[in-house]
Amino acid sequence: MTKRVAIFISGGGSNMLALVRSMTGGHPARPCLVFSNDPGAAGLARAAALGVPVAAVDHRPFGRDRAGFEAALLPHLEAARPDIIALAGFMRVLTAGFVARYEGRILNIHPSLLPKYPGLDTHARALAAGDAEAGCTVHVVTEKLDDGPVLGQARVPVLPGDTPDRLAARVLEAEHRLYPAVLRRFAAGDRRPVLLPG
Ligand code: GAR
Repeated sequence: MTKRVAIFISGGGSNMLALVRSMTGGHPARPCLVFSNDPGAAGLARAAALGVPVAAVDHRPFGRDRAGFEAALLPHLEAARPDIIALAGFMRVLTAGFVARYEGRILNIHPSLLPKYPGLDTHARALAAGDAEAGCTVHVVTEKLDDGPVLGQARVPVLPGDTPDRLAARVLEAEHRLYPAVLRRFAAGDRRPVLLPG
């Protein structure tokens, strides 16, 4: 049966667009919701323009009350009945309770070759370390940040003169190839990692 995919974003949503555009024809999944913690996220309008249902709950009034924020978003999510949740540039940490509720069904894309550089500023850290290559990882979300079984990685070379922004742009292109490839495989029930060379 076709899987239903909810995509969580915080910003422009270029990964979300790559995922939505991939889910056509014989693809084993279809988008059922694009959700954002920022009602002004540019990706919401882009998703709506493609005919995907959208919802937003502003996380700011909840302060550090992550569970309160999640309780407010849950009705939107439950109404969409997702089989899979794909975090795509979603910049909020989910509680252990939320992760347990959708255990094994939440994916995340992270802009580094995990286990290197969990957290923020991944590209600046890769450059500061003198790494010869960088990349991105799609993994199953567990309660530990940027951890969990790896479902795919794409490698890109670090080039002379790279700045964090230039490297980020090159990695983002790789993200747009990797995430749709992983989602297609995962939705078909195949968890073998997708490995894309640089
Ligand atoms: C992407 O590079 C994604 O890997 C990163 O945010 C960017 C979102 O871009 N995610 C994280 O850093 C998660 N910790 P997008 O909104 O254009 O997809």
